[in-house]
Amino acid sequence: VRLQSESERCNGEFLSGDEFPRERIRFLDCLGEGTFGKVVRSEALNIIGTGRWEVVAVKMCKETATDTEKADFLNELLLLRKIPKHLNIVTYYGCCTRSDPVLMVMEYAPNGDLLTYLRGRRPKKSEPETGEATENGDNEKTTTITPPTLTSKELFAFSLQIARGMKHLSDNNIVHRDVAARNVLLTDRGVCKITDFGLARDIHGSDNYERRSKGPLPIRWMAPEALIDGRHSTWSDVWSYGILVWEVVTLGASPYPGMSASQVFKFVNDGKKMEKPQHCTDDLYDLMTQCWRQSSAKRPTFDDICSQLETLLEREG
Ligand code: ADE
Repeated sequence: VRLQSESERCNGEFLSGDEFPRERIRFLDCLGEGTFGKVVRSEALNIIGTGRWEVVAVKMCKETATDTEKADFLNELLLLRKIPKHLNIVTYYGCCTRSDPVLMVMEYAPNGDLLTYLRGRRPKKSEPETGEATENGDNEKTTTITPPTLTSKELFAFSLQIARGMKHLSDNNIVHRDVAARNVLLTDRGVCKITDFGLARDIHGSDNYERRSKGPLPIRWMAPEALIDGRHSTWSDVWSYGILVWEVVTLGASPYPGMSASQVFKFVNDGKKMEKPQHCTDDLYDLMTQCWRQSSAKRPTFDDICSQLETLLEREG
């Protein structure tokens, strides 16, 4: 597959502004694998003008990917490369499209995805029973090194950064359609970056609503209008964002716990909402429920969400 570019030259030397020579990429290890794609931690020589090998993340399709999956991947590449740079959106560096497999080179986020990160920061549940002999015959308490738990301020800060990234997308007429903690990356400095634009759409010039193509649906993150008749919009992204905030507050629980996908479908269509999670402040729950208003037009904009969270954060001190 080839991406056409105006700056394409015939001598094959350097084809488009962001076409990167494949020989200057060294693959390291696999960061994540989906059904059709994978992301590999890699090094790329002089990709950001430093003259050095930089650690990057390279996304590619597996050989077994279907045409639709390859199309989703190309969609992601074409979309990501034209999003104006933003701190809270994963940075696109370049691509290799001259031959297969097509590669998309992005910034590397050392802390991985937010969902795994949150789950790893849960306080350890059960202390080993005291006095009970272990297999080795000793009866010492096993000490587990638990990282410090996250403060509510940090959780607000994550939510705010993601809202800022989402505001940038909506300002650029992009509907993400898969807003979820698994699709947010975290840098070593705790900066959240929205990623995974495989399902995203540029809605510029269209009517904000679009029927989606087939493929697995992120049911538990979907707004009622998206579930019922595939109407995706910035407002349905706001709903999903509310679910994401719920994931953040619960340190990565699965939405609608104990319910099957079809139960969730009915529950959401009946206009019901998840209850306030333990440890969630009233303010933050209020924000979530605003995002889950049945009527999409009554939901807050990402700009409203940013302002509300900024106020909450200031109050946290
Ligand atoms: N950058 C893009 N995708 C990534 C991933 N899955 N892990 C770390 N950094 C990334």
